[in-house]
Amino acid sequence: MNLYPEAYQQSIASPQSFWADQARRISWYHQPRNVLTTTDDGFYHWYEDGVLNTCYLAVDRHVEEGRGQQVAIIYDSPVSGRQQCFTYSQLQHEVSRLAGALRQAGITKGDRVVIYMPVVPEAVFSMLACARIGAIHSVVFGGFAPHELAIRINDAKPKVVLTANYGLEVDRKIAYKPLVDEAIAQAIFKPGKVVVLLRDGLQADLTKGRDVLWQDFIAKAPLVDCVPVEAGHPLYILYTSGTTGKPKGIVRDHGGHAVALAYSMETIYGVKPGDVFWAASDVGWVVGHSYMVYGPLITGCTTILYEGKPVRTPDAGAFWRVIEEHQVKVLFTAPTAIRAIKKEDPELKLLGEYNISSLERLYLAGERCDVDTWHWAHHGLQVPVVDHWWQTESGWPIVAQFPGLGLMEPKAGSAGFPVPGYQVDILNEGGEVLIPAQEGYVAIKLPLPPGCLPTLYEDNDRFKSSYLDRFPGYYLTGDGGYKDEDNQVFIMGRIDDVINVAGHRLSTGEMEEMVAKHPAVAECAVVGMADEMKGQLPLALVVLKDQAKINEQVLESELVQVIRSNIGAVACFKQAIVVQRLPKTRSGKILRRIIRHIADGTHYAVPSTIDDPQILTEIHDALKSRLVGQAFLHQ
Ligand code: COA
Ligand code: AMP
Repeated sequence: MNLYPEAYQQSIASPQSFWADQARRISWYHQPRNVLTTTDDGFYHWYEDGVLNTCYLAVDRHVEEGRGQQVAIIYDSPVSGRQQCFTYSQLQHEVSRLAGALRQAGITKGDRVVIYMPVVPEAVFSMLACARIGAIHSVVFGGFAPHELAIRINDAKPKVVLTANYGLEVDRKIAYKPLVDEAIAQAIFKPGKVVVLLRDGLQADLTKGRDVLWQDFIAKAPLVDCVPVEAGHPLYILYTSGTTGKPKGIVRDHGGHAVALAYSMETIYGVKPGDVFWAASDVGWVVGHSYMVYGPLITGCTTILYEGKPVRTPDAGAFWRVIEEHQVKVLFTAPTAIRAIKKEDPELKLLGEYNISSLERLYLAGERCDVDTWHWAHHGLQVPVVDHWWQTESGWPIVAQFPGLGLMEPKAGSAGFPVPGYQVDILNEGGEVLIPAQEGYVAIKLPLPPGCLPTLYEDNDRFKSSYLDRFPGYYLTGDGGYKDEDNQVFIMGRIDDVINVAGHRLSTGEMEEMVAKHPAVAECAVVGMADEMKGQLPLALVVLKDQAKINEQVLESELVQVIRSNIGAVACFKQAIVVQRLPKTRSGKILRRIIRHIADGTHYAVPSTIDDPQILTEIHDALKSRLVGQAFLHQ
């Protein structure tokens, strides 16, 4: 029976009663009576008077309810050859001890802790230990360079940084500790303590008086209990790329987040306690937070921490091996991972070596899934492929399918139906709601449902100017798209300076700021160009200063190095092309969207505001020689 229409209707017509019902999915120290409150300055709060603790829900509750012996976490690291399981009881022990160590180090409710770690169980213990004592964690993706880590340290002002000596990247050990040292050297705010997990095979230099080895840190720590916190108390800050060099500190609360994740696990992912749920992502991304850690653990599932890649660790059969070995029911990954497998094993020969009959559904998100990849996965794996759409800001899906509500109509190219709680509208420039098939700004009518960001960390003004001011009464998602006649939503890509490279969200605006600082560069534009495997890649167009005497190749390699050492290798910034001028409007605004279309070889209309249309031919010619064979058409 299709329960979606009724659930959706109720969530929009009576959000308070809908979310009051959903709040019963979790346990509270104090059940909330005020489901939704609005402040005078236009902010919304869910479950304001509720008191709970997310770590209790994710760990202790399962032990109390008799699931202590069930496996909570399976750690699978193909490169190191390590596999380890933790039951809910063992998880409770590890987390309580680390929480005790943090408390001994002076961390109390509201203090920030930065976590810069690879995908290892201790990263999850760290997040949960912070939650347990009401500290606010901020996980920074290990692929980010010291400069990015320093920006986040300056903003979050953590008393403690938790890290490891290295992360594994296929056949390489990436030393994390020197990156942390470099970040702290660059940062204005200096954390008092750095705790280093020493993994086999690499030493780490410790700074006396500041650094301590993990094993020593927890050695004499007491086991501590969960601290009850108000529903609105921040659980974490997760920095995400905006349109400038300053990332946005997305705040997530304890109450709304726990309710929303519990709701999503049953209705969207169709899982229940005991099921094996695998989000093949990284703890540094929102997918890692919501669906490697909090969602599955709050639900009482077994979650998998996979410290490997879809290919090369050791081959394109890696995912199928993990599914068979751990009896995975639901897999969540980024389309780029599927494209990587498709490229290396187009006929899925390696799939024949494994039995993946436990797999019921494959979920994709993080970037647009092209139609070819969707069909390839659907036919090859013989399971429904659910493309669904959300973002760091929402913390859980905005548009999806609903096996838990009896609605599964996945369609190639579509990200699905609006999730209960989200009124998704497509708006034109003037803020009017568009009819089906018309493409426009994808916006969400306020209030956002529980789980979504209440604000940006210590920056209410930026929250309003980034998301709320453009269309009053709406949250601006930053994506463009349309709905079809069946109410399915098609997300066509970002309409701002944010790109997704292999599922990693990055800011072309930030790259542009860095490229512009090169002494030979007069001005530049960095845009996201379509890439067959990674979805998008950054491309810089550079205008040189008149007096600059630099060879184009030298300039390119210097710029590549700047982005690599400041943002990180994940940016995959590899191309900078010198042009005579940039296309602009008469008022001097760079036409980045047009540059993107030229690079992709897709159709565009020449805007009437363009200063000099002739320049488009120049750009076309400059890109043609360099990008031949690279562009692939959007579908
Ligand atoms: N720590 C340090 N370096 C990292 C890193 C990390 N956590 N993650 C990536 N990098 C580095 C890589 O080593 C690589 O460096 P190199 O240029 O020196 O070789 C660079 O960043 C790019 O890495 P990646 O984006 O992983 O590209 P790849 O070519 O190695 O692999 C894929 C391609 C498709 C297999 C890979 O991108 C992938 O698995 N993508 C899925 C991403 C994902 O799940 N995203 C989560 C959002 S849901
Ligand atoms: P992140 O905040 O890293 O999760 O990135 C969010 C952005 O990724 C969104 O704003 C979209 O641009 C893009 N995105 C995520 N999921 C999808 C999807 N299913 N289809 C298209 N784009 C997506």
